[in-house]
Amino acid sequence: MKVLIIGSGGREHTLVWKISKSPKVTKIYCAPGNAGIAQQAECVNIKVTDIKSLLAFAKTKKVDLTVVGPELPLTLGIVDTFEDEGLKIIGPTKKAAQIEGSKAYAKELMSKYNIPTANFRIFAEVADAISYIKSKGAPIVVKADGLAAGKGVIPAQTIDEAINALNVIMVKKAFGDAGNKVVIEEYLEGEEASFLAFTDGETVNPLPTSQDHKPIYDGDKGPNTGGMGAYSPAPVITQDLYNQIMDRIMIPAVKGMAWEGKIYKGILYAGLTIVNGEPYVLEFNARMGDPEAQPLLTRMKGDFIEVCEGILEGRLSQVNIDWDERPSVCVVMASKGYPGGYEKGKEIKGLESALRLKDVFIFHAGTAIKDNKIVTNGGRVLGVTAMGKDIKEAISKAYEAVDRITWDGVYYRRDIGGKALRYV
Ligand code: AMP
Ligand code: GLY
Repeated sequence: MKVLIIGSGGREHTLVWKISKSPKVTKIYCAPGNAGIAQQAECVNIKVTDIKSLLAFAKTKKVDLTVVGPELPLTLGIVDTFEDEGLKIIGPTKKAAQIEGSKAYAKELMSKYNIPTANFRIFAEVADAISYIKSKGAPIVVKADGLAAGKGVIPAQTIDEAINALNVIMVKKAFGDAGNKVVIEEYLEGEEASFLAFTDGETVNPLPTSQDHKPIYDGDKGPNTGGMGAYSPAPVITQDLYNQIMDRIMIPAVKGMAWEGKIYKGILYAGLTIVNGEPYVLEFNARMGDPEAQPLLTRMKGDFIEVCEGILEGRLSQVNIDWDERPSVCVVMASKGYPGGYEKGKEIKGLESALRLKDVFIFHAGTAIKDNKIVTNGGRVLGVTAMGKDIKEAISKAYEAVDRITWDGVYYRRDIGGKALRYV
């Protein structure tokens, strides 16, 4: 079987690594990929948004299955385009991907199906939004409706900050049409966790729990990033919470989407916060998390392709997925300056030495090859992932590997996994 993976981040390198283990797979392509992916797959220089060229490539190479990493091609309708041509592809259709592509849509869905989420209102007019903010007071959260590369959510501590956020989103249109509408919602204070599930539109087959670290600095300080590290499992999710998340969130979301005529297939990701022992949805994503995919897929036993076939054939209820009991931790190594501006092209040293460590995996994100050397080529550069008999061992192994790798201007958090240790 020939497989095409779409994307170029740490999540996609992890997918390539996992899918390459399938006995069914003979060839893997990745568009556009990165320097690490190039060691395990044939990289093809096509942008994730160039759906026409991706389709032409998949047809020419007789690709049997395409797996989509990031949200943008999903919201642009890559699944619809491929399926119309009879090609197999994993991910939700354009209509179903609205669950991530429009925060207003996701909030309305949650209201309609009683899925717990922060109280909210949706606005298309700035003046109305300002009056609402003034009436509610701060803290309050302002969210651009559409995709904004993780920058469209502004938790405001004061009314002025919230109004400023509105200006950035709706008046200055910092995120373009994504700011035509805003969601304004209640500020929820709690520990966050990620909950992902495979679904064929009917059966919800959950992955283990995980937790991301969104802010750039230790102690969850500073601006949000795409994610500076992740671990699985997340002990904040007790068995009781796990049951609540399945019964009150994941199953109603998948059923609700089907009821709305937007059958949801692929991976559904709920970003949660836990308040007084109850889960609330902060957002839904239409794909795997990055960096959550790194700890989750390193824990997954068995064949990823069999899960894909279960999704495509509507028989996910018959697919049993086993998971390694051992915790897994991913520390993201980034370029200094990220999530703002940063330099590229710095030679990465120490990769071989780090890879010699047992149960350590190095997933590439922003890397490229220049003059036969691996160099930095993005904000998030590597996802250094390790498994251990317990979370403590997994953390120390991950940092042992991190300590062997360096480049000019490397930055990473030192406290990834720290929250899990509180439960030990
Ligand atoms: P989202 O993309 O909606 O998950 O938001 C990104 C981040 O903003 C989340 O991971 C939270 O840290 C924060 N956030 C989003 N919604 C809220 C909320 N209602 N209350 C507090 N923080 C929030
Ligand atoms: N790690 C957060 C995300 O993938 O959206």
